[in-house]
Amino acid sequence: MDLDGRAGWRYAYNGRLPGPVLEARPGDTVRVALTNRLAEATNLHFHGLHIPPTGSGDNPFLHIPPGESFTYEFTIPEQHPSGTFWYHPHVHGSAARQVSLGLAGLFVVRGEMDEIPEIAAASERFLVLQDWPEEPSPMERIRGREGALVTASGLRDPILPAAQGGLMRLRILNASSSRFYRLRMEDHPWYVIATDGGPIPEPAGYDELLVTPGQRVEVLVKGDRAEGRYRLLNLPYDRGGPLFRGLAGETLATLEYQGRAETTVGLPTRLPEATPLPKSDLPRRTLVMSEGMMGMSFTINGRTFDDRRVDTRVRLGSVEEWEIVNRGGMDHPFHLHTNSFQVVGADGVAERARRDVVLVPRGERRVIRAGFFDYPGKTVYHCHILDHEDLGMMGTLEVAA
Ligand code: C2O
Ligand code: CU
Ligand code: CU
Repeated sequence: MDLDGRAGWRYAYNGRLPGPVLEARPGDTVRVALTNRLAEATNLHFHGLHIPPTGSGDNPFLHIPPGESFTYEFTIPEQHPSGTFWYHPHVHGSAARQVSLGLAGLFVVRGEMDEIPEIAAASERFLVLQDWPEEPSPMERIRGREGALVTASGLRDPILPAAQGGLMRLRILNASSSRFYRLRMEDHPWYVIATDGGPIPEPAGYDELLVTPGQRVEVLVKGDRAEGRYRLLNLPYDRGGPLFRGLAGETLATLEYQGRAETTVGLPTRLPEATPLPKSDLPRRTLVMSEGMMGMSFTINGRTFDDRRVDTRVRLGSVEEWEIVNRGGMDHPFHLHTNSFQVVGADGVAERARRDVVLVPRGERRVIRAGFFDYPGKTVYHCHILDHEDLGMMGTLEVAA
């Protein structure tokens, strides 16, 4: 593949970097035929979708050997939130390498959100953020591999055309295996309309957004500045561990005004948020993430991943609060499959946003409230720095009636 004028070996879905954008609506049945032309086993994970984690659904335990094909098939439930989800391989031990070689694509669920008039009038862009690491040294693997070249939907510093008086809707995905992005658009605040798990109650303004591996954020940008060009910058962020290079801000993309919108569009006032999860009266569970043996083992509750074990059992239909504790020296973005959650603040109040990845900074803890609805079966939770997941920071969850 050729990337920013540099030829190199990459992995790709249908020959494209990133892979094709898959789109579906609630109620649709989805079939994805995966043919493995790699020389190693791979599989597909549908990150963030609320679909069965078993059979030919979002089953992270399947391995598709080289030369073989497998058809994933599942139905998006009628109540599924509209939002920005994604797909990527999930073979334990190879996830970081396969994803950072290019295997990632968006999975968009269109629904209520897309029918809000202001949002329907906005110009929509996908920004899949990827970096392109070389084969890492042991130290780089412990930290989580990062590449110097960063692309936005396969391009280095693409132009984002904006219209004066219009709205731009960006669907941003961090598809990097380890790199964090701290995003700022010169002179343009971000108006967040959705997080990982779909819409939030109303647009919320921020100057900067921190997007960890696996996270998505949907934002509106108002075209209300003077003609010209404005840079989308990635600012430095120290996520702990060795080898932090406090690089100056790099440009990921450039907003450029090109003409006027036919009609001026303002921000929407209300968004179709999901129903909040009820408080749980079950005892809180604790999951401790740590790095042992000079970084050679990455554990949750003292154990490295073993797919034959069940680490956490929950009851189908229940709501639980989990306290995620980071005892390590690096930040770890914690991710849960199949069900989204709400983050509970120190005051006990749950954030309205739904997420499936929450950053737990080094030395800190976060409480999440998750409901385990609709689908019995076994799945996983893990750190979404994929080298950490490959090195063992993943546990299994069994949901049973
Ligand atoms: Cu995007 Cu289990 O991961
Ligand atoms: Cu996932
Ligand atoms: Cu981690």
